[in-house]
Amino acid sequence: MASIAISEPQVADRWIVADPGQFREKFNQKSFEVSHNLASHPLFQLPQLMQLAERTLKTRPKDLHYDVGDVSVSQRWDEIVKSPFSAQEALRRIENCGAWFVFASAQRDHEYRIFVDRGLAEIKALAGPKIESQIMVEDIIIFITSPGRITTYHIDRECNFLLQIRGTKTVHVFDREDREVLPEEEIERFWAVDFNAAVYKPHLQHRAQSYKLRPGMGVHIPVNCPHWVENDDNVSVSLSVNFQFKDPLRANPYRANFLLRRLGLRPTPPGRSPALDAVKAYGITPLVWAEKTYKRWTA
Ligand SMILES: [Fe+2]
Repeated sequence: MASIAISEPQVADRWIVADPGQFREKFNQKSFEVSHNLASHPLFQLPQLMQLAERTLKTRPKDLHYDVGDVSVSQRWDEIVKSPFSAQEALRRIENCGAWFVFASAQRDHEYRIFVDRGLAEIKALAGPKIESQIMVEDIIIFITSPGRITTYHIDRECNFLLQIRGTKTVHVFDREDREVLPEEEIERFWAVDFNAAVYKPHLQHRAQSYKLRPGMGVHIPVNCPHWVENDDNVSVSLSVNFQFKDPLRANPYRANFLLRRLGLRPTPPGRSPALDAVKAYGITPLVWAEKTYKRWTA
């Protein structure tokens, strides 16, 4: 859809537009495309984002992550080489330095607060009243990416709406229920010990749903759906509006299974027994104790 110039008082009625039926059917289950009206918003132009970078570096530097260089789809985040440039220098060189910028929790900057308030209000209105009590953390992240840069394959703990602001790119999203793409052991490791636990399997690339994003388009990525991103030959700016659900609902059964597997057992995957899931969700503390005891015995 066409993007419109927005200054705050004349903003369009809806920022995020999704088909209600598709939203109800697929929200936090399957990926799907959305559209939005934020592509021309002045706060997402590069000079304003440079100012945001300078404010962020002064007040909360840990919220500005960036790296530079050639990256492969299967590379771990902790294997990516640190940038030889300062953040400001890398932003100035964004056209050709192979950079990936992450402005985490951008709503902590008062000018950008509105995007989490209003963006999430719209998503909650679409998702229905029950969602409010399930949310633990609400957040926005702004990504700026150099031409051709890849965002490596991973899974997230957040439920995410990735809105394309500037440039075009392809987002490849996999089905989180496909146990060849995403085995139980990888999910367990992710929730327990390793955010890079998901392993890219090139021979299964054809199972991805690939979304070609341009300004005004976006994609919904449910919690734990594996994904990776290929930027086109342009500078890309994207806004991620996201939230984390309360941990016990999804994470703790996987954490419990991680510990059970380390104790030599073959745990039942979440989703097969609600009663067992509930025990694991709210009874993980004794399992942590059991694992520590096991380690003492086997040390
Ligand atoms: Fe992600």
